[in-house]
Amino acid sequence: ANEINALVDRLREQRNLSDAEFKTILETDAYDAALQKAADEVRRTHYGTDVYVRGLIEFTNYCKNNCYYCGIRRDNRNVTRYRLTKEEILSCCAEGYDLGFRTFVLQGGEDPFYTDDLICEIVAAIHAQHPDCAITLSIGEKSRESYRKYFDAGANRYLLRHETADPEHYGKLHPNELSALHRQACLFDLKDIGYQVGSGFMVGSPYQTTENLISDLRFLQKLQPDMIGIGPYITHAQTPFANEKSGSLELTLRLLSILRLLFPYALLPSTTALGTIHPQGRELGLKAGGNVVMPNLSPVRVRKLYELYENKICTGEEAAQCRGCLEQRVKSAGYEIVTARGDVKR
Ligand code: SAM
Ligand code: FES
Repeated sequence: ANEINALVDRLREQRNLSDAEFKTILETDAYDAALQKAADEVRRTHYGTDVYVRGLIEFTNYCKNNCYYCGIRRDNRNVTRYRLTKEEILSCCAEGYDLGFRTFVLQGGEDPFYTDDLICEIVAAIHAQHPDCAITLSIGEKSRESYRKYFDAGANRYLLRHETADPEHYGKLHPNELSALHRQACLFDLKDIGYQVGSGFMVGSPYQTTENLISDLRFLQKLQPDMIGIGPYITHAQTPFANEKSGSLELTLRLLSILRLLFPYALLPSTTALGTIHPQGRELGLKAGGNVVMPNLSPVRVRKLYELYENKICTGEEAAQCRGCLEQRVKSAGYEIVTARGDVKR
């Protein structure tokens, strides 16, 4: 027990460990209790019991990409595709604002229908109506010029998970037309332009090794992102990975705690995917070090159509119901949702 506490204390103080030490911690449950306790203490030091909410608007499920793990990949002919208009997106934001949301996340497949001009028009309109809110984009890999245009139009934050830092593993999850290094370069462009940047990875994706996870931690140490989104990989039957296993709750929680200790200031969402693999997944994610939740603000009629993975939760509930439900869940875990933009505290 002493050795366990000593290693966790060192992780907390040095904000680092050797590869061999990370491997030890990652491959056993022996450290989990100590990791969670330390992670919760660190989150309380920096963020108290505050939990930030982000209103997620899934505005298109068209995608030109073909990631092997993703339910809305272009080759999935069974998906009913949809797009939201600017007006529909604005009404999601208005509803969200009344419910206390001060950050809106526009996420979608990579859909060329939304030209740079259209994205800028949408961002500018949200910014004009809600000048006190942060606008986050999560629309994939674009040119530096495009990222700059969105930023100038009023976008403040950008979420782009690196998915897996190891190029060889990346190649097993994506067709050749996509590359790990290009995705990573996008993240450095975004940071350079001035966005608050979020990266992250899937836990338990097919072929993932402990060494891959250590590469993910090393990549994040280089990038120093403001937000880190991780969640379990969850199988979708209409993908090439139909027969692969989903990632586990335990490993995701373990990584959340490690991330909190490595990046005390980070905004760490307790994700919908975590809530999907376990009924109390999001509460457990908060207790393991998470401090953000991202309820869905998309119109209920499109919720089921943005199916990245199977059995996604909250697809039948109105925004207000989700907000109320989460409020209770966050409280039951010992934290509190606050009405705030929730910028990173560096
Ligand atoms: N197109 C944008 C992009 O690629 O960054 C944003 C949308 S993409 C669907 C959002 C995230 O969903 C990805 O970063 C990926 O980590 C996650 N995702 C996709 N399929 C998943 C699955 N089967 N299980 C868990 N997460 C998945
Ligand atoms: Fe959506 Fe509980 S958070 S219904």
